Amino acid sequence: MALVAVTYAHLPIPAADLPTQCNSIERCCMPTPYKGKPAYNFEYKKFKKFNVRRPAHLLTKKEITRLEKAYTLMRALPDSDPRSLLNQMKLHCLYCDNALYYPGQQYPLEVHNGWFFLPWHRMFMYWHERILQKLLKDDTFTLPFWAWDNSMDVKPVPNEMPAPYARKGSSLYDEARNNCSFPPFLVDLDTAGGGCTTKTPDFIRIQNDRLQYTQLVVGATTPSLFFGLPYYFGDYGGKGSGTFEDQPHGTVHAWLGRQDAPILGPQYHPYDDMGNFGRAAFDPIFYPHHTNVDRIWCLWTHIPGGKRTHPTHPAFLNTQFTFYDENANLVKHNVSQALDTDLLGYKFESYPTPWMTNGV
Ligand code: C2O
Repeated sequence: MALVAVTYAHLPIPAADLPTQCNSIERCCMPTPYKGKPAYNFEYKKFKKFNVRRPAHLLTKKEITRLEKAYTLMRALPDSDPRSLLNQMKLHCLYCDNALYYPGQQYPLEVHNGWFFLPWHRMFMYWHERILQKLLKDDTFTLPFWAWDNSMDVKPVPNEMPAPYARKGSSLYDEARNNCSFPPFLVDLDTAGGGCTTKTPDFIRIQNDRLQYTQLVVGATTPSLFFGLPYYFGDYGGKGSGTFEDQPHGTVHAWLGRQDAPILGPQYHPYDDMGNFGRAAFDPIFYPHHTNVDRIWCLWTHIPGGKRTHPTHPAFLNTQFTFYDENANLVKHNVSQALDTDLLGYKFESYPTPWMTNGV
């Protein structure tokens, strides 16, 4: 048999028409079509002051009340509204659970396990935040970040589940969580998934710090190591995640997922919600988890040593993803428009990162 050399074009991904391209046996398809308006191209929004994302465990009473109200409003939207929490969950599911097909392409789109992981989730947080601002009629609202990366501070503890998210009855609470992910348990960045650990808190602190030093500092000195391998239009993929995506990002998901979730109802699978792509974004803690991922991306670019910049291939920069905006209209967001948070109008309050040096 003769071997045929196949060359693939390395093309960017064109913006998908979300309502018509979903083909999912899973839990991903969104209401079709919502307003029927064609998608518009994103342009940076003018703003006067930066919004500052704050650590979730340090929120003031007032900030907690506003955050709870935001999710109460989002949960109350009808299933026909793509901005509802259920549909935010489906949007995430759509982009990663073998659901989004392009005409003529064999494989579904996948934004995980490759170089789109970081920019896609930044965009998702950006639009999610704008929707919450709109529901609150308050464009100073910001998502908090969950500083699970800091294993060293003790009062209050940043690497427990932040208290507002752990309160039963709150709009920030989710039933489908590992029972041993609630305070006082510390997030285990080296977990195999859910369940209760026998590791001591001191062991976890040291393990987490060391692990992040390995994954984010010494193990991620190039764009490819940090962002993951290229993913082009039509690829079966992703072919390989960056060091950050699997651990610590993925292990936080796994730690939160509930092994016995099916007992909650037929819509649940083992390790729902946070432990599965299909339902992860239904748990409100998904969002401070991902704003922290976004924050660590920002921090990483300033770590000395190596080449800590984003990929520059045109297929990366010119890829476009479709989201629903705060008015439930479709918007096309270019990856090149997701690389500078200053242009998107937000910053992160500074918070210590002992892992950057503790591994030495
Ligand atoms: Cu799309 Cu934290 O995963």
